[in-house]
Amino acid sequence: KTVAVLYGGKSTEYEISLLTAFSVINAIDLDKYRVLPVYIQQDGRWIAGDEIKGKLAHKDQLLLQENAVAESAVTHWLAPSAPANARTRPDIVFPLLHGPNGEDGTVQGLFELLNIAYVGSGVAGSSVGMDKVLMKDVFAAYDIPGPNYVSVSRFEWENDAPKIILKVKNSIGYPCFIKPANGGSSVGISKCLSEPELSAAITEAFLFDTKVIIEEGISGREVEIGVIGNHELSVSVPGEIITKNAAFYDYQSKYQEGNSTLVIPADLTDKVKAELEETAKRAFVALNLSGLARVDVFIREKDQKIIVNEVNTMPGFTQFSMFPLLWQHTGLPYQQLIEKLVDLGLE
Ligand code: DAL
Ligand code: MG
Repeated sequence: KTVAVLYGGKSTEYEISLLTAFSVINAIDLDKYRVLPVYIQQDGRWIAGDEIKGKLAHKDQLLLQENAVAESAVTHWLAPSAPANARTRPDIVFPLLHGPNGEDGTVQGLFELLNIAYVGSGVAGSSVGMDKVLMKDVFAAYDIPGPNYVSVSRFEWENDAPKIILKVKNSIGYPCFIKPANGGSSVGISKCLSEPELSAAITEAFLFDTKVIIEEGISGREVEIGVIGNHELSVSVPGEIITKNAAFYDYQSKYQEGNSTLVIPADLTDKVKAELEETAKRAFVALNLSGLARVDVFIREKDQKIIVNEVNTMPGFTQFSMFPLLWQHTGLPYQQLIEKLVDLGLE
């Protein structure tokens, strides 16, 4: 099988995507799969590279340069007149892209049009899973418990900020979290302890999106669980995040060594674990997902109830990331996990 691996991307999580791609490409069994790299630059240009023949020594090898053979990848897959060596249509695409333009249904729509299989969720699941407001609206409709939230558009904020501030005070309270509706890796997210901090936090979030979500801060443990499958779903063991020296699990805690610890498997009672597994599967089904997802929850301190924070349809995927580690502890090592996801995408 020929697998095209997409990475980079026009998103604030470009760097994470490169790390993910480096790990995945080096783990794929090249005797079993032909791997075609497709690099999406930060400006959105696509560059297809030659087939990968061996292990990469450094992730900078992923930064493909445009040349006569490797022009736009999609053009090659579309155009029958492209040179034969560049025309290889993949059997499946693995979009190792995080955030908007990759994890949000846009790229998935392109592959639907090209009639090429891809790993992960389809258009609707990806886009609803990317937009934290739509995602929480769906969870509410399916009785999946989540934090209270308020959605605000740039238009509303610019026209009547005091009304939004009052709404937050009345329906959310403090502490609260301010997030761009579409984003990942905590970019643009702030935690607000009191009203004077709110305006600046909302303004900051609007640097990244035209819609912002304000959520109730839940005090409790932060736990994540992996789900894979299309119809019959499997769940991984749960993992807990212990964040050090930070108000929350922010970008630095996520990606700088020593700033957070992953406890796998998380030490949960059987009852909480069973509720977590059931809730994670219900969230996956509610959002119409397929392939894979990492479901992030809080175990609320006051009542030990599972509160779903969010779902990630293309979770971080380096060998040190939570999602693959969860599966490794569940008995599915990294390389087999990749093969399993490719098989699910081809189903
Ligand atoms: N958005 C990042 C990559 C994650 O969820 O792991
Ligand atoms: Mg998350």
